[in-house]
Amino acid sequence: MHKIDIELIEMTMDVMKYAIDRISHTKQKVGKPRKAEELKALVGDTITKDGIGGEYAFNLWKQHLAKANVPVDHPRNLAFVPAAPTRAAIMFDLVTSASSIHGAYWMEGAGGIFCENEAMEWIVSLTGLPKGAFGVFTSGGTAANLSAIVTAREHWREDDTYKREKGLIITSIGAHSSIKAMAKVADVDILLVDSEEKLTGKDLRETINNLTFHQRKRLFAVVATGGTTNAGIIDDLEGIAKVCDAEKIWFHVDAAYGGGALVADSVRHLFNGIERADSITIDPHKWMFSPYDCGAVIYRRPEFAKKAHSQQGSYLDIFKDEGAHGFNPTDYQIQLTRRVRGLPLWFSLATHGTDRYKEAVERGIELAQIAGKMIEDNPNVELVREPSLSCVLFRRKGWQPEDYTNWTYENHDKGFALVTPTKWKRGDVFETVSRFCFINPDTTEEDIKMILDTMA
Ligand SMILES: Cc1ncc(COP(=O)(O)O)c(C=O)c1O
Repeated sequence: MHKIDIELIEMTMDVMKYAIDRISHTKQKVGKPRKAEELKALVGDTITKDGIGGEYAFNLWKQHLAKANVPVDHPRNLAFVPAAPTRAAIMFDLVTSASSIHGAYWMEGAGGIFCENEAMEWIVSLTGLPKGAFGVFTSGGTAANLSAIVTAREHWREDDTYKREKGLIITSIGAHSSIKAMAKVADVDILLVDSEEKLTGKDLRETINNLTFHQRKRLFAVVATGGTTNAGIIDDLEGIAKVCDAEKIWFHVDAAYGGGALVADSVRHLFNGIERADSITIDPHKWMFSPYDCGAVIYRRPEFAKKAHSQQGSYLDIFKDEGAHGFNPTDYQIQLTRRVRGLPLWFSLATHGTDRYKEAVERGIELAQIAGKMIEDNPNVELVREPSLSCVLFRRKGWQPEDYTNWTYENHDKGFALVTPTKWKRGDVFETVSRFCFINPDTTEEDIKMILDTMA
């Protein structure tokens, strides 16, 4: 398995050819999932005592398995938060794999971590956090949110008064599902302000005023969202920061999706107040055009994260020794062994420069505005609310929830587009509506028009 022979050379060429084709192909299909039994029937047993051979396995991948995936970078994949990694970043993802770097400690991964830190400096500069703030790349927004919540909780518990208390955090129902999920992992309670619209400082103040004495004692953090997943709403970060300051509670901003828009002049002002955060989540694999998986967590005072996350073990001592002379990413988030997953972003940023990122993000925002106008001009559909960042919520007049589901499946089955329904809460009513989320700057106005036409 580990020797070099002619088969290995041929396989390497095949893999490179595949990667080149995939990177340069602009007309890939929207793939379709198939049931596991169907895939099994197509490919048969793939894990056997003697192996089926690389060439055969690779052909199975190309013929059957690759087609059962929906490319996240398809210009008509507007579901969830799609992605559009740059070709430079994808190429360097291959280099990252080929380089076999352990990205936990500087001692082993100095070159890779140096590059990650260069990219991180740029991200931190977008936030406006003061000198000393820094971050690390994580497997995604979920891991970044967890790392931040645990840091906040550990810092709070340094005060003996809270040692035996179960923590409480406040956020809104607009917050991403990972906040609720990670609160569970960290075993902290969560109080949700019942509005999907912008969470304001006033809402937060009222919520805190209504807490019982014991709840207030347990409250250690507030999570605001810098671009809600559902609708692209940026909470009132300035107002929330003021309340957190006055109450001396940790202020976390989940900008996993919206954080990329910090680079965009047209919307940067909406994030004012983010520079007052104690921690921030930003996912480069969303709107910074990195391949999966690449999230980031940034701290105003990284030393608090180090206290919370640094792992101890006699086998690790050498890596913490002065001989290592550098920054150890493992100390600032939940993972020990880690891929230097910021490396593809670094290469792409170094290749293209930050202005190209600005242009590509502005295009996503522009596409949402264009889609909004098209919806206003189309008699069959109407906007649920104004487009925000790159999200557009709209309804097809007269449709029931099942019509949205059927429409999604029809377009997906045809290999045409993946546009999925969501729900929007107004008062006590959850309405099923349709949603666009634009990331890929190669999505065209014609793509949007064609999708809306299928709603006629
Ligand atoms: C606002 C927000 N936070 C967190 C996440 C979770 O990120 P990940 O899927 O990278 O774990 C998402 C994902 O869409 C998100 O939009």
